Parts: sequence; C-alpha cells; structure tokens
Amino acid sequence: MNRPDTNGGMTRSRAVAAICGAAVLAGLAVFLARQSAIDSLAARNEFLARQLQEAQAARQDALDKAAAREAELQTVRRDSAVLARLRAEMKTNPPAALPPSGFYVGKDPPMYVSYGTPDPLLQVFIQSVMAGGDDPAAKGRAIFAKICAACHQADGAGKDGVAPPLVGSEWVLAPGGERLVRIVLNGLTGPIGVQGRDWNLPMPPWRENLKDAEIAVVLTYIRSNLGGNKAGPITAAMAAAARAQAHPGPETSEELLRISEQ
Ligand code: HEC
Repeated sequence: MNRPDTNGGMTRSRAVAAICGAAVLAGLAVFLARQSAIDSLAARNEFLARQLQEAQAARQDALDKAAAREAELQTVRRDSAVLARLRAEMKTNPPAALPPSGFYVGKDPPMYVSYGTPDPLLQVFIQSVMAGGDDPAAKGRAIFAKICAACHQADGAGKDGVAPPLVGSEWVLAPGGERLVRIVLNGLTGPIGVQGRDWNLPMPPWRENLKDAEIAVVLTYIRSNLGGNKAGPITAAMAAAARAQAHPGPETSEELLRISEQ
C-alpha cells in the first residue's frame, strides 16, 4: 500500500508542528527575557525607592538634630545675655543693704521699734521726755540715749560692724546740717566714709517716729554736747523743710554729697 500522501502529510504536519513549537519557544524566550527585564527593573526601582527613603530619613534626622542644636544655642545665647545684663546691673547698681523693718532700743526692758509706722511704745517714751522740763539738751540726751546710742554707742564713738562714730564725724559737724537732718529722717544705706574709714551698713529712717522738734533737740545735742563735738544748732524748721521733700527710700552718701553745706 502506498500512502505517500499520508506519509507526505505526516511529514508536513510534523514540520508545521516543529515550526510552531519553535515559534512558541521563541515567543516564550522573548516573554521570559522581557519578564526578567521587568523583574530586574522592578527590583532596581524598589532598591532606588529604599535608598531614597533612607536618604530622606537621614536628612530629616540631620534637620531635627540641627534644629535641636539651634534651639540649644538660642537658649545658651539668651542665658548669657541675661547673665551679662545682670552683671552690668550689679556693676552700676550694687544691691543695696536694706534696713530691717525694726530693731531693739534701750536696755531694761529692750523695746522693739518698727520704722515704717509710728511705734506706740516709743511714742509714749518720747512724749514723756518732750513734756518734761525746759532743758532742750536734757531732752536731746534722753532721746539720743534711747535711740541712737543703741547703735552709735553711749559715748557716740561707734562700733565696728554696727555703726560709725558720731563724735568727730564730718556728717554730724557739717556747718549747714541739712545732710545730717536727711540721714536721720530717711535713713542711710550703701558705702559712706566717716573720718577716713569706709562703712557700708543700713541705718534706719526716723521719719515716722521723730517729730521735727524732736529731731531738732536730738541733733542739736549730738552737734554741741556729745564728746568734743561743737557745731551750730539744728532747728525744727530745718527738719520740717527736709521732711517736706518726699524720700521713699534711704539716703546714699553719693546723693547727700550733692547737697551743698555752706
Ligand atoms: C539700728 C542702728 C542705728 C541707729 C538706731 C541709728 N543709727 Fe545712725 N547709722 C547707723 C549705721 C549702720 C550708719 C552707717 C550707714 C551706712 O553705712 O551707709 C549710720 C550712720 C549715721 C550717720 C552718718 C555717719 C556718721 O557716723 O556720722 C549719722 C549722722 C547718724 N547715723 C546719726 C544717727 C542718729 C542721730 C541716730 C538717732 C536718732 C541714729 N543715727 C540711729 C546705724 C544706726
């Protein structure tokens, strides 16, 4: 039996099948090649994206650190500006020693006197002194002994760490007496030189506790009867004139020296 056609047909169909197979294989190869190219692109993209993310995170971190450092720097700058200002203020304006609000006068019994308001017990004492007799020197001595001597000592010679001397003091003996009146009315703070020695302690004000006439008798006594002191009297009118000038804080020697003493 001759079946060349069949044989021939077989051969052709095999060839067709072979061609088709090759084409499929080639297509598959192209597909696979493209797929692997796509895969490697995707991998590359993913890598780049990760790198970008890391770079961004590192940049943010650096920015955060820089911001923190800047804030710290600003704090340091602000602190040192505050310190510099305080230091400058301390230089031009040293903290003044403020007088206490009161202290003890007299011995038996000691009496606590407050400066800010008239002290009732002290007022009773001073009124009885002022009402007794006609001798202004005796009144001045009594007030001196009760009040001033507590710090300036009974002989007026002063005491280290407590108060400077009144005997021989240029502040007490100055001819005009206006500085002396103002020291007693308003108190005194800060450095002051007395007979070549420097003092820097608080002296309380007596504005609220001594009336003009009382200031006159005690200062006249100190100027003319204490130790070897010899200077003219202080009048109640002088005390009244000084009192009329409001002076909320204590005097300083610098301020007092601007007042001329004739
Ligand atoms: C609580 C203590 C105290 C009392 C009380 C007191 N003083 Fe003073 N007085 C002082 C101190 C301290 C100074 C020095 C102030 C200073 O360093 O700036 C001073 C300074 C003075 C000065 C100028 C410096 C000198 O020694 O000359 C006079 C004047 C003065 N006092 C008068 C009086 C008179 C007057 C009385 C009584 C009415 C009185 N004082 C009461 C503490 C006191």
